[in-house]
Amino acid sequence: MTSNEELFARAKNVMPGGVSSPVRAYGAVGGTPRFAAKAEGAWITDAEGKQYVDLVGSWGPMILGHAHPAVLEAIQRTAERSSSFGAPCLPELALAEKIVTMVQPVDRVRFTSSGTEAVMTAVRLARGATGRDKIIKFAGCYHGHSDSLLAAAGSGVATLGLPDSPGVTRGTAADTIVLPYGRLDLVEEAFTADDGQVAAVVTEAVPANMGVIVPPEGFNKGLREICSRHGAKLIMDEVLTGFRVGPTGYFGAAVKDEGWAPDLLTYGKVVGGGVPMSAVAGGAELMDLLAPAGPVYQAGTLSGNPVASAAGLATLENATPEVYEHLDRASERLRALIADALSTEGVPHRINNWGNLFSVFFTADEVTDYDSAKTQDTAAFGRFFHTLLDEGVWIAPSSFEAWFVSDALGDREFDVLAAALPKAAKAAARG
Ligand SMILES: Cc1ncc(COP(=O)(O)O)c(C=O)c1O
Repeated sequence: MTSNEELFARAKNVMPGGVSSPVRAYGAVGGTPRFAAKAEGAWITDAEGKQYVDLVGSWGPMILGHAHPAVLEAIQRTAERSSSFGAPCLPELALAEKIVTMVQPVDRVRFTSSGTEAVMTAVRLARGATGRDKIIKFAGCYHGHSDSLLAAAGSGVATLGLPDSPGVTRGTAADTIVLPYGRLDLVEEAFTADDGQVAAVVTEAVPANMGVIVPPEGFNKGLREICSRHGAKLIMDEVLTGFRVGPTGYFGAAVKDEGWAPDLLTYGKVVGGGVPMSAVAGGAELMDLLAPAGPVYQAGTLSGNPVASAAGLATLENATPEVYEHLDRASERLRALIADALSTEGVPHRINNWGNLFSVFFTADEVTDYDSAKTQDTAAFGRFFHTLLDEGVWIAPSSFEAWFVSDALGDREFDVLAAALPKAAKAAARG
């Protein structure tokens, strides 16, 4: 059996850093990334045959657990009729109709293949609709790696301590205004300073890429109000929260009953059930500015892919209210175990959660934005992480990432977690 070390050495010869996405390389925690061989339910097995309880779930999509029978069946049945047509097809239509039915006020959905593409498309649409160039984003929010959204982008960039990326032109960077998260007064100020030039505010519905940050009371609604007053669009990025924090994401859980809506929503992760798939969604008037209905160009060879659409549809159909209840309970149970283990060892920590979505910050201070998230003891996290891994628990290799629970987590998995967490907390305490 080839070891993870040997595989990583081979991978580094043929792929930059040995990976297809930076955080996977374990840069922040050291050691060798585990190569995934297979996964089923809540368990993932590496190339050496070691099994782990998976609390990453492919960074969000695997809400039902891995290889869920209904999702597998949908993928197999659809792939038998070809894995791609490059033509309109029934699975994408069914998924679009499902999203429109589930999330009012969505009238139209444009499918793309990654969250990056979805948010990039939303930004272009906002610029096309308003005839303005600038956008406002918040430090620590990640919206994918498109040029205009890479500034102060949390997560991978924060994990690796990278500055904003070379290769982004000064012109593009100048069109992105980055503000601290949670400060409506600064948003208002920025609009006033750039009067008539801001096309859109882009925000994560619940920031989760600098760790989970709970939106201050009235913050998202306040953004809506400011955008409306200044003729700008509000893009609420639900790539991570969509269909995860509830059947209709953050929008359904927190916004709908307040009687307002963003102009555009973006989805990814759960919407494709683990197959590349994402979407921009919104009202008819704005969405129909997209080509070919309108002049704003956007396209994709594999967009609306039948297999991805079928996997997404099967996932949404099987994500019943009971599943969301189970996710909430599993998250609560896990948070209690973590808090107990870290408190017992006197490890300073904060656990932020919004519904089932949570993260653990290794700091004693309240974490409300990117600056406070960066005060954590990342070395303590590294020791915590590696002990968990040794004990058969797979969490994201960065303290700036959320933890992802799945419907497949049960008592057997919690026994493993209950045994592993005290050991990991001890390691974290041994600084
Ligand atoms: C909120 C948010 N938006 C956009 C993206 C980008 O999605 P993708 O990695 O599919 O390009 C992510 C990825 O983690 C995300 O969390």
